[in-house]
Amino acid sequence: MDREFPFPLPFSWYQVAYSDEIGVGELRPIHYFGRELVLFRDMAGTARVFDAFCPHLGAHIGYGGEVTEQGLRCPFHHWSFSPEDGRCVDIPYCKRIPPKAAVEPLPVCEKNGIIMAWYHPLGEPPEWEIPDLPEYGDPAWTEWTRRDWMVKSRNQELAENTVDAAHFFYVHGTKNIATTDIVESDGYFLNVLCQSRVDTSKGEADGKIDIHAYGLGFGCTRFKGVVETLVMTSGTPVDDEYVHMHLSCALRKLEDESTTSGVGKAFVGEIERQFSQDIPIWENKVHLEKPILCDGDGPIGDLRRWASKFYVD
Ligand code: FES
Ligand SMILES: [Fe+2]
Repeated sequence: MDREFPFPLPFSWYQVAYSDEIGVGELRPIHYFGRELVLFRDMAGTARVFDAFCPHLGAHIGYGGEVTEQGLRCPFHHWSFSPEDGRCVDIPYCKRIPPKAAVEPLPVCEKNGIIMAWYHPLGEPPEWEIPDLPEYGDPAWTEWTRRDWMVKSRNQELAENTVDAAHFFYVHGTKNIATTDIVESDGYFLNVLCQSRVDTSKGEADGKIDIHAYGLGFGCTRFKGVVETLVMTSGTPVDDEYVHMHLSCALRKLEDESTTSGVGKAFVGEIERQFSQDIPIWENKVHLEKPILCDGDGPIGDLRRWASKFYVD
């Protein structure tokens, strides 16, 4: 059996950068969804993602291109493309702009400090919106600590992990076998509640993890208890093989700064530890279309039915 996955890349919103990674007028090449793309912020401050190749003679606009008042300018012969719809708006040496001259834009949204692009294999428009998370920008919460990994796997495989009850004990060392329940599955959104006994600084306690997924590319995981924490999880397909995983973690501030920073560091360390424990499993496993499940496994079949919505036949 080889490691080929039986599904294509799912349509979803996917992180392509953090907001503060690209300033007004900046441009950079990016490679996601098996495509060459450019990410830029136009002069009005709006983040944009375009196909990378100029329709004139195929230059990669991400290498030497510029963002100007007119839009995105190709480095090769200075054709300029409107930031709004990608249509060519200027060719400095011609009188009549060819009507078909345009670069393909991808839909973009910028929320929670993250720039996201909408990927759909057939170029269909977005089918849902990413919500604004109440914790983002709330002064009662800390700054966000970021980590990222390249994982040789697929989004659905990573998503299955959230309902895989037994692995929390065997891979992550929870105190007992967890329970994982799909609380709600509303179209493209999913809410999973995961409960297990965990070790805390104040002894063993019931840990509750509330996971919301907004498509297969973005979600947030909230740990409730003495300390309230949130992890934004973004997985962006690089191509058929790799997913670029980003985690950004924050917590509700505690009584003083040093407690907050100590607890915050321990929390991020724990997230890193658990994520790193999953990676060798993900990177070497196969996807079984007909796994043999048992009654303690958690709703893996339901998760798969939900995930199947994101594929185009
Ligand atoms: S290839 Fe882009 S302007 Fe000619
Ligand atoms: Fe895990």
